[in-house]
Amino acid sequence: MTGSQPPGPSKPASADPTGEAAEQLGDDALSERYVPAAGHRALTRFYDPAMAATMRERTFRRALVRSAVTTGPQAILDVGCGTGSQTIALADAVPHAEVIGVDGDPDALARARARGAGRAITWVEAFAQELPLDDDAVDCVTASLLLHHLSPPTRLAALREMRRVLRPGGRLHIADWGRPQDPPMRLAFLSIRLLDGRKNTADHAAGRIPQIIKEAGFSDVQVTRRLRTVFGTLELLEAS
Ligand SMILES: C[S@@+](CC[C@H](N)C(=O)[O-])C[C@H]1O[C@@H](n2cnc3c(N)ncnc32)[C@H](O)[C@@H]1O
Repeated sequence: MTGSQPPGPSKPASADPTGEAAEQLGDDALSERYVPAAGHRALTRFYDPAMAATMRERTFRRALVRSAVTTGPQAILDVGCGTGSQTIALADAVPHAEVIGVDGDPDALARARARGAGRAITWVEAFAQELPLDDDAVDCVTASLLLHHLSPPTRLAALREMRRVLRPGGRLHIADWGRPQDPPMRLAFLSIRLLDGRKNTADHAAGRIPQIIKEAGFSDVQVTRRLRTVFGTLELLEAS
């Protein structure tokens, strides 16, 4: 599956969060299924500048790319790709690989598609918990800052989907909020907890994400790096 036109695989009806599907789901059900990049769709255009200013973005994205390319992946899936920064960095680092970016938000994907123009990335509108890919389709799955957008049951379902599409021996690479290292980081994390929801961020605050990744069927789960940021402790995790 290559090329820049979406979607390669068939798109489930529920992957349209704007039109009929949104009307049928209603606002509450929809926010249960996906929260936009900056917490509200009207704020998506501010997401990239805010990331660059506050998140040590270059450091964590480079670190995630470095660990993802170590095994020489042939097919990479970036789940919750948003406006495409991580997906594009991966495609540039492994130009021979097939790269797929999946997100539930059509506005974020439109930005990603424009930013990634000229690269052989496939952009797909779909939900992380219903990935429209075959079993064992890729040998590398990445998800940066997705998991804290998902409710606990949706997060577990999404991680199980990531395991399903990952070939045996393939690697999972996550960047997301971890347990705050100290009181200043706990205070910093409060704004994310308010913006993205206390329920969705409770497992992050409690340091339970590695255990949840195991529950989804992964093994050898490791936190490889912790970074202090304006909004709290960002962790890089790997699993197979
Ligand atoms: C904070 S942004 C991170 C975007 C990107 N990965 C990055 O590193 O900049 C979270 C993204 O997850 C997407 N998202 C949230 N829930 C989702 C779901 N259930 N399925 C697919 N995408 C989802 C949002 O639309 C948003 O683009």
